[in-house]
Amino acid sequence: MKIDPKTQDKFFNILKAVVIPRPIAFVSSQSKDGVLNLAPFSFFNGVCYDPPTISVSIARFAGNKPKDSLVNIEETGEFVVNLVNQDIAQAMNKTAAEYPADVNEFEVAGLTPTASEIVAAPCVLESPVSLECKLIQVVPVNEGSSKECGLIIAEVVYCHINDDLFDGRYVDMKGLDVVGRLGGHEYCKVNDLFEMRLPIYKEE
Ligand SMILES: Cc1cc2nc3c(=O)[nH]c(=O)nc-3n(C[C@H](O)[C@H](O)[C@H](O)COP(=O)(O)O)c2cc1C
Repeated sequence: MKIDPKTQDKFFNILKAVVIPRPIAFVSSQSKDGVLNLAPFSFFNGVCYDPPTISVSIARFAGNKPKDSLVNIEETGEFVVNLVNQDIAQAMNKTAAEYPADVNEFEVAGLTPTASEIVAAPCVLESPVSLECKLIQVVPVNEGSSKECGLIIAEVVYCHINDDLFDGRYVDMKGLDVVGRLGGHEYCKVNDLFEMRLPIYKEE
């Protein structure tokens, strides 16, 4: 089958199913009036190591409603990316409904906000890793359309990681126990691991 994305109105189902598995940025942010917000975003990735930089793509609207996370990040320039392990996967999912801007999604999810070191937005206590981020740039994609996205590029300015997950050199990948996003309603458990060493090229 050959598909032109412009003529297949369910192409987003293909895109979400083939760009996999996606890490989930469980983003905590704060409005300028101090309302706490939590929401998951899986169009999330690393951008560069030094300074540590990540990207998260957030659609500007859900229907007619602006997505609160994007509004908060643009207004305050700060947020936290929390990782999602199996223990908090259900709680994460609860925050993905389109709640009004004045709803505190920590309460919806039954999760605990805990003070960050540098940014005003709190970390999620129950998350194994939290990355405090400062906004570098929002790159508008498809600007002016109802499908507009804001590609957020941000520097990681502080990291919280559970003591038992980092030995000073490597992260315990099995212990991290994160979940990944697939297509449809499916997720995967990132705990079935294998190793490959980088090959070394030697000139003959
Ligand atoms: C696992 C998962 C991943 C998601 N990834 C994205 C994403 O990458 N970009 C996006 O705009 N929405 C994504 N969503 C939908 C948002 O989480 C949802 O629109 C949320 O209500 C936005 O909340 P807010 O208005 O508080 O920012 C995702 C939802 C789930 C459950």
